Amino acid sequence: MKKLVVLTGAGISAESGLKTFRDSNGLWEEHRVEDVATYEAWVRNPALVLEFYNQRRKQLYEVQPNAAHIALAKLEEKFDVQVITQNVDDLHERGGSSQVMHLHGELKKVRSTADPNLVYTLDGWELKLGDKCEKGSQLRPHIVWFGEAVPLIEEAAVLSSQADIFIVIGTSLNVYPAAGLLNYVPGNTPKFLVDPNASPMPWIRNLTIVKEKAGSGVPKIVDELLQKD
Ligand code: OAD
Repeated sequence: MKKLVVLTGAGISAESGLKTFRDSNGLWEEHRVEDVATYEAWVRNPALVLEFYNQRRKQLYEVQPNAAHIALAKLEEKFDVQVITQNVDDLHERGGSSQVMHLHGELKKVRSTADPNLVYTLDGWELKLGDKCEKGSQLRPHIVWFGEAVPLIEEAAVLSSQADIFIVIGTSLNVYPAAGLLNYVPGNTPKFLVDPNASPMPWIRNLTIVKEKAGSGVPKIVDELLQKD
């Protein structure tokens, strides 16, 4: 089976109703990264950080996977599909994908501030000050904040280097190290980029740019790949 690796960002979930970060009206226009998505912010004002992620989590329970998430799951009929996502939502899983790596963490999980290996699935949407792990330490969102290490990046780089087909969907490719994964994909591997605002990337070989929203562009590519290979 050919290995098909997919790298996704906030754009794939936009049509489900979740805001992206850097588009106009995006999340980083309403909130400053330094106030809600860094370890320093957590130390300074944990209540504000919890509220930001509680709102994101609450909204996640109100939205559904869209045609792009569902189409990607269909690829598993013919390919060994590995999704590498920067998204903290669970729409790939709910859309039916079985191998999903969350580079930046997962909204529905929380972890101990004392022991990063103590990770729990939160019941409901609200994490509060005073909610503690089994060792008695405050729980924090299971999110990779700016300035923190991305523990899964090496594994993601290896997967990218093994890709027979590589698809990038809905990411501005602004945030490293995730944005650098394209550099690990072999030059002769066919690559697709689905993003209505994509700019040309002439330094990437064998790249087809599909300037469409994920909900229409992804099902088209998926149908093509399922017919061809
Ligand atoms: P961005 O908000 O930076 O980029 C979203 C991309 O999605 C843009 O390139 C848009 O053009 C595109 N887009 C918008 N609507 C779309 C649609 N319907 N279909 C397809 N594409 C669409 O989001 P990311 O690249 O995911 O990290 O951001 C990367 C990381 O920065 C996030 O994981 C998050 C953020 O800060 C953390 O919070 C640690």
